[in-house]
Amino acid sequence: MTKTVTPIHEAVRERYAGYARSGSTCCGDGKNLLYPEELLTAVPGEVANFTLGCGDPITLADLQPGETVLDLGSGGGLDCFLAAKKVGASGRVIGVDMTAEMLERARAAATRLGVTNVEFREGYLEKLPVEDGSMDVVISNCVINLSPDKPQVFREVFRALKPGGRLSVSDIVTNGELPEAIQKSMEAWGACVAGALDVKDYMHGLGGAGFVDVKVQPKGDASELIESAGLKGKIFSAAITARKPA
Ligand SMILES: C[S@@+](CC[C@H](N)C(=O)[O-])C[C@H]1O[C@@H](n2cnc3c(N)ncnc32)[C@H](O)[C@@H]1O
Repeated sequence: MTKTVTPIHEAVRERYAGYARSGSTCCGDGKNLLYPEELLTAVPGEVANFTLGCGDPITLADLQPGETVLDLGSGGGLDCFLAAKKVGASGRVIGVDMTAEMLERARAAATRLGVTNVEFREGYLEKLPVEDGSMDVVISNCVINLSPDKPQVFREVFRALKPGGRLSVSDIVTNGELPEAIQKSMEAWGACVAGALDVKDYMHGLGGAGFVDVKVQPKGDASELIESAGLKGKIFSAAITARKPA
């Protein structure tokens, strides 16, 4: 575990607390285009459209009734609520986030929606507040890139999963090294750019933590930020899956 909370955690927290307070999102024109429309009909518009994600880990995870799901960096809770529908009353979803304002927003939405199989816990990806071997599936949407200690996150996810459990993640990755100025920019960290891992390092990192069947599938890039920074083709959103051996 990163021993102390780092300046990166603080910069990221400040940025996402702002989004939680204002209800605005980072990308797009306010309409959520990341998921199939029929999936989003499960929740009201104000929840469906508050996404800071970069993909659709719900469809990727192929969740089944009765499964226990952990969402890393749950933000406003959208993926948790969509997962809760999929796993049903016999399943359970836990969202973990380090930002108090996000947790407040997600818990308020859970109360409004009347969902009883979702819980939001305060905590860090680098020290997950869950029991060893307790999760069938770990999902995450555009968060692992924000961690300054990814090997620790991968170890924690491996610890949290049951034997045979799976990881289904949307995240930002790179194709080669980013310019040094970008890597050092706190603004670029918060924007899910500076901390993005090279695809090969991502796969290697997951393998090093014990995961098997590691796959990275590019989803496309196309964020305005990526284009304006002249990084098109070098940094992109990907669907990442892996499995803890049975
Ligand atoms: C880009 S937002 C994504 C939120 C959500 N997954 C979504 O798709 O809308 C990143 C979220 O992860 C949280 N986060 C970032 N780094 C974290 C860390 N190291 N530990 C716990 N939460 C973290 C932030 O507070 C924020 O809510």
